[in-house]
Amino acid sequence: TATALAAGVAVSAQAADLTVGFSQIGSESGWRAAETTVSKAEAKKRNVTLKIADAQQKQENQIKAIRSFIAQGVDAIFLAPVVATGWDSVLKEAKEAKIPVVLLDRDIDPSGKDLYLTAVTSDSVHEGKVAGDWLAKQVGGKPCNVVELQGTVGASVATNRKKGFDTAIASHPNIKLVRSQTGDFTRSKGKEVMESFIKAEGGGSSICAVYAHNDDMMIGAIQAMKEAGLKPGKDVLTVSIDAVPDIFKAMAAGEANATVELTPNMAGPALDAIIDYKANNKTPPKWIQTDSKLFTAADEPMKVYESKKDLGY
Ligand code: AHR
Repeated sequence: TATALAAGVAVSAQAADLTVGFSQIGSESGWRAAETTVSKAEAKKRNVTLKIADAQQKQENQIKAIRSFIAQGVDAIFLAPVVATGWDSVLKEAKEAKIPVVLLDRDIDPSGKDLYLTAVTSDSVHEGKVAGDWLAKQVGGKPCNVVELQGTVGASVATNRKKGFDTAIASHPNIKLVRSQTGDFTRSKGKEVMESFIKAEGGGSSICAVYAHNDDMMIGAIQAMKEAGLKPGKDVLTVSIDAVPDIFKAMAAGEANATVELTPNMAGPALDAIIDYKANNKTPPKWIQTDSKLFTAADEPMKVYESKKDLGY
């Protein structure tokens, strides 16, 4: 009502009536699990009913979930798109049903720009650049062979994190990317792929650094390096992305060097945007950008671990 609006309470009054469907990718990483937990908590704080559909890494499941949310007549749809392409038809259906879509943590191809209201994501090219710049600074002019564990093939964050890193090292001819393969953002594949890199690199002594598109793959890679008798964090530099508690434990143990933080709280800003849109007809900016902060082993990793460990990871 006008009185409620004037009193500034319209947002919470409206929020109580909202139902949001969230098509989540799955639980491939510690970061992803935290994002799901945090999303539930953020919805609860705002009295929003959040229906989460776990797609188990499959785009077809995400498309099905979106269609089901449309059929249920939800007020908004949150989508964490596993890959960047293939969304046009289903997002057109949401648009026709007048259900606003908010992208969380990953992007879709620019051709789909008119099909969603806003995207809450980090600048994932920048994340890769921060990782590459850190490495360049560490190695100085010394020759350095790097192996890269990529995220899920076709995911915007995998494409962008690679691009940012490649750009950062391009001006450092002493740094060479010698191997690059997907580890699908999981610990187990990170370990598996790292084992194959070590084998292919004659036991791994020629590897100077590992760049992983997320911490979970790095934790798997650290395990593989230790099993092969290598010393991650000392003989082999590590830099990854997410800042999950376990990577800080590894840093404290001297087995990891750096990570770029990605907040698991994408839902908070997304919910605020959708509430304001619904209650006050306010269109949010097309991109709500989250921060990307570099942490290194010099940043009191055990303290950071303690501060993060109960946040849903
Ligand atoms: O889209 C964000 C990425 O997805 C996270 O960095 C990774 O851990 C997750 O699986």
